[in-house]
Amino acid sequence: MERNGKDLQIYRSNLVTSPAMGELKCLEHAYVIVKGGVILEVCPVLPAEYAGAEVTDFGDGILIPAFSDLHIHASQFTERGVGMDCLLFDWLNTYTFPQESGFASLPYAETVYRQVIRELLRHGTMHASFFTTIHYEACDLFFRLLKESGMYAFTGKVNMDRNSPDFLIEDTAKSIRETDRFIAEHLGDSHVKPILTPRFAPTCSEELLKGLAEIGKRRKVGLQTHLVESIAEASWTKELFPGYATDGDIYERLGFLDNGPVIFAHVIFPEERDLEILKKHGCMSVHCPDSTANITAGIMPLSDLAGEGIGISLGSDIGGGHGTGIYRQVARAVQLSKLKEFYESGYKRITFADAFHLATAAGGSVFGNVGQLREGYQFNALLIDGLEDDGGNHTILELLERFCYIGDDRNIVRRYLDGKLLQRVTENPPSDPLS
Ligand code: GUN
Ligand code: FE
Repeated sequence: MERNGKDLQIYRSNLVTSPAMGELKCLEHAYVIVKGGVILEVCPVLPAEYAGAEVTDFGDGILIPAFSDLHIHASQFTERGVGMDCLLFDWLNTYTFPQESGFASLPYAETVYRQVIRELLRHGTMHASFFTTIHYEACDLFFRLLKESGMYAFTGKVNMDRNSPDFLIEDTAKSIRETDRFIAEHLGDSHVKPILTPRFAPTCSEELLKGLAEIGKRRKVGLQTHLVESIAEASWTKELFPGYATDGDIYERLGFLDNGPVIFAHVIFPEERDLEILKKHGCMSVHCPDSTANITAGIMPLSDLAGEGIGISLGSDIGGGHGTGIYRQVARAVQLSKLKEFYESGYKRITFADAFHLATAAGGSVFGNVGQLREGYQFNALLIDGLEDDGGNHTILELLERFCYIGDDRNIVRRYLDGKLLQRVTENPPSDPLS
């Protein structure tokens, strides 16, 4: 590689990237020219100026953009696959709240958070928006681990000052003060950025939300939270906030929505007013298919939101969701949309190409130039391979679809983050990619 001169890498590979909803661009044995971690060019033949340069040939492998997970609770990684026959509130009270209280311990937090980062990279997620817990020190540690890892991320200190158990609740003034401190300490130009993270309206008083909104305006930071995830949550929120029309109206009227990216998880039961708000402020709605099937009992009206021009992407929602790889959420999003079409007349299902777009370019858009293989974008990419059966004869696009349905991390044979090959995530048993 050195022979190519400073920071220049040239790859020859099949590749698939999705520039727009429903569109898959597939090139066979194309060339990707990368300099300083940024894609200079993607071209069918090697330009004459690179004649004689070293080219790394990936053979039958397929290069795709790295995935984005726009809604994941790093603090719930150890809960994956447990309590999955509950609905939201039972699951929170029985499993999640007791488990999250453990993050008062820094050694526990470090053990879990290191594994989360390692496992996400292993499964091809290089960009993510993370919830943590209410504990300042553990959030601070997680932020530093994310920076070391090179991932592109948003993360925030979770806020909850009511309707929460004694062992996982904050004093309102302290919650606001620690959030301001967290954001002040971590604002900067790294790939990891702080974001306001009130858990959801039912566990936040109006006073707390007002304090957080003031921080958002003053420090110019965005918001992530859960929005209309279940019918019970949506109606409880209205009882708790009688002065506001809907869940979305709370965040708009308090002034959260114009200070940075706004990421709303689930958006399963939006009212007209919510849709207007999402559209007006360019908010991102995150569909979390596994989680929706496990704990929330409802399916995001994805194609309706897309039809309104509302931004959508995908999330694992670990631990409500059980799967780590966003590639599987691509498959599940298609599956759930077909069920919704079957049971609801007038609803239109999405295609595989739509879902792949949500998991790559759409999700990546909140992090900058990531999520596509195209000029000017970071070379954050995965090489997938080993998806053909003995006797099989599939096209490149079919192999990509198979990866999302039947593949796993073993089919990700190379991972590039900012042009650098991640070496250690593939070792078995996995060692720490951070060290
Ligand atoms: N609503 C409030 N807290 C949570 C959580 O931890 N997970 C999910 N899926 N929904 C929530
Ligand atoms: Fe969640």
